[in-house]
Amino acid sequence: MKHPGFWKMLTVATCMALLGCLQAQELQGHVSIILLGATGDLAKKYLWQGLFQLYLDEAGKGHSFTFHGAALTDPKQGQQLMAKALETLSCSQDIAPRQCAELKDQFLQLSQYRQLKTTTDYSALSKDIEAQVQHKGLREAGRIFYFSVPPFAYADIARNINSSCRPGPGAWLRVVLEKPFGRDHNSAQQLATELGSIFQEEEMYRVDHYLGKQAVAQILPFRDQNRQALDRLWNRHHVERVEIVMKETVDAEGRTSFYEEYGVIRDVLQNHLTEILTLVAMELPHNISNAETVLQHKLRVFQALRDLQRGSAVVGQYQAYSEQVRRELQKPESFQSLTPTFAGVLVYIDNLRWEGVPFILMSGKALDERAGYVRILFKNQAHCAQSEARWVAGRSQCLPRQVVFHVGHGALGSPAVLVSRNLFSPSLPAQGWQELEGQPGLRLFGCPLSDYYAYSPVREQDAYAILISHIFHRRKDSFITTENLLASWVFWTPLLDSLAFEAPRIYPGGAENGHLLDFEFSGGQLSFSQQQPEQLVPGPGSAPMPSDFQVLRAQYRESPLISAWPEELISKLASDIEASAVRAVRRSGEFHLALSGGSSPVALFQQLAHWHYSFPWAHTHLWLVDERCVPLSDPESNFQGLQAHLLQRIRVPHYNVHPMPVQLRRRLCAEEDQGAQLYAAEISALVTNSSFDLVLLGMGTDGHTASLFPQSPTGLDGEQLVVMTQSPSRPHHRMSLSLPLINRARRVAVLVMGKMKREITLLVSRVGHEPQKWPISGVLPSSGQLVWYMDYEAFLG
Ligand code: BG6
Repeated sequence: MKHPGFWKMLTVATCMALLGCLQAQELQGHVSIILLGATGDLAKKYLWQGLFQLYLDEAGKGHSFTFHGAALTDPKQGQQLMAKALETLSCSQDIAPRQCAELKDQFLQLSQYRQLKTTTDYSALSKDIEAQVQHKGLREAGRIFYFSVPPFAYADIARNINSSCRPGPGAWLRVVLEKPFGRDHNSAQQLATELGSIFQEEEMYRVDHYLGKQAVAQILPFRDQNRQALDRLWNRHHVERVEIVMKETVDAEGRTSFYEEYGVIRDVLQNHLTEILTLVAMELPHNISNAETVLQHKLRVFQALRDLQRGSAVVGQYQAYSEQVRRELQKPESFQSLTPTFAGVLVYIDNLRWEGVPFILMSGKALDERAGYVRILFKNQAHCAQSEARWVAGRSQCLPRQVVFHVGHGALGSPAVLVSRNLFSPSLPAQGWQELEGQPGLRLFGCPLSDYYAYSPVREQDAYAILISHIFHRRKDSFITTENLLASWVFWTPLLDSLAFEAPRIYPGGAENGHLLDFEFSGGQLSFSQQQPEQLVPGPGSAPMPSDFQVLRAQYRESPLISAWPEELISKLASDIEASAVRAVRRSGEFHLALSGGSSPVALFQQLAHWHYSFPWAHTHLWLVDERCVPLSDPESNFQGLQAHLLQRIRVPHYNVHPMPVQLRRRLCAEEDQGAQLYAAEISALVTNSSFDLVLLGMGTDGHTASLFPQSPTGLDGEQLVVMTQSPSRPHHRMSLSLPLINRARRVAVLVMGKMKREITLLVSRVGHEPQKWPISGVLPSSGQLVWYMDYEAFLG
């Protein structure tokens, strides 16, 4: 029997609580959300839906909202585009269609388009918000600006918000930023400094949408809830390896202008996969909801990451990519992109917990399936004495033991957490996750689904919707802080630099990739498991021989001309060079090849590196036709191009490679250093009669060849074998073989490609021997053979 005073007290307490609620509701205030880039792709696909979801979840809880879709487009067109973007909004299944239509209507009424271009536009927006809040007798709680715009627009927008659209005292500001956050450590630092001078760290929410994926968001809670079982297992003694994978079937078509600048490592590994890695590897904080501690623990993982080496990664590029880039970015036919669309990277963490455990990060476009997962595979030291038939289904110690956070797609088709039944019986949050219904016959990671304890979310939610809700609730642990971002770039930038000139392995795309992209690791290095095959995508029937190519044979300036489509032309030239090499080695034991730089030969170098297994590289000497007066490590150096596209790929003895001595005594092309004379002396000493077996030349649109430009005072005649010259374009100082030396060669091949060369080809076809005006017209080997290789565009236009 309760004391009568009890009821009285309860009534008072309830009233107080209710009053508190009501007051709290009133105090919740008004929130304005400004979506910049409101008519763009991301907004259309995810952000509007995420904002609608926020409205559905929060509107009844005391906040009022307005949504401002903003862009640079004028109001009329902008409004139309935004209305289109909002057409597809949907409610979750538990909301009846009629109710959904009503809610959608309410949301549309709260959503308006506005053009945000100038500072005045931003002040007008601010005034409108204030007026509206006042008019409705509300209190302003805060403003969220969602930047769904390219990063070059960030600084301007940020300044405008700061100067003209910050909310008044007592209300908060949150700005939401989308990647890319720079393309290396320097640019990320610059952007961060710029933004840091405008916004406080706590105001910035950098999105990595993978942190909103349900399975990824479950990593820390899962580790937390299963501390007891995992404490023993989550370390180098028990973990065999960790695989963090994001595979896509789509390619980069339609977005090559972005992709060409970034590539798969910057697009996916530096952010999504690295974030996942830190969640798996970090020491588990006592309180996983404390954003600051989580960040500190993450940063400790970055500190322990072992530096990546060039050999830590394998890279690939799907075959159609370069063509897509040429088409979308109007590049010349000879353009070959080096941007990786596939990468596998081996990461080690040098701390007590993870020392020696390989973390494999892999992602790519145009692969055989769309799937994302983190797989922690445990070591297995058990040996089962009984035959497999007697094992208890799914529980034998001899079966693989793994924990998988399945991000999505794949054979399973949904997010999930899987734990091998022979490992331990996990606990998952009582709410939000449920046991996954078995799909009979489904096998995952080498085992039937029935071998796992398997859980999936009760309600699948889009990552953006989750993150928008976290922004609203100030859950900063789901976002990337500046420190976190820069730590990641510090880790990735050296690898990106070392891959800058690396030719990726070409793969056909989709299921046809076969085992071409499989890789393996040993001694801390990754390598593809298979050699690059001779013919990547053989059509039906056998691979064509060079002689099968459709080449047009004709005469040009009274010398043989070979003309074909670029790919065939390059194949033909590569085969001809190989044939010359084989003949020369047979004749004299060595082959002296002088190569030009520039973009046209890149495809040739790649062809030689990838397909010519029987090329006698061990007996080949490589010389440079010309060089720019820049350090040999400079990307502009011709030697650097040769190095990146050919030398790294072939086994040529180092002492057979003869870069031009443009840098002596730490200075570039100083006359006193006599670099040209030195090179001439080296040629005279090593090349019989200074007669190269083959010289590969190009032809410039002004008729220059090698670095011999029209009206050059040196190199067009005379005795000198190697000369210093001046180029009209930068870098101006050059070193070049002279025409007399070139004309001593046994064979000279001139490669001319692309539409841009059409006019000069036409002109040069008509002129006589006038090297002063058109140095190329002075190329006429005295006793050797000159052959022209022109693609159809250069020859026929
Ligand atoms: C983005 C990348 O961050 O993630 C895209 O820029 C990629 O290239 C995308 O396609 C994949 O995300 P999701 O959510 O489809 O797995």
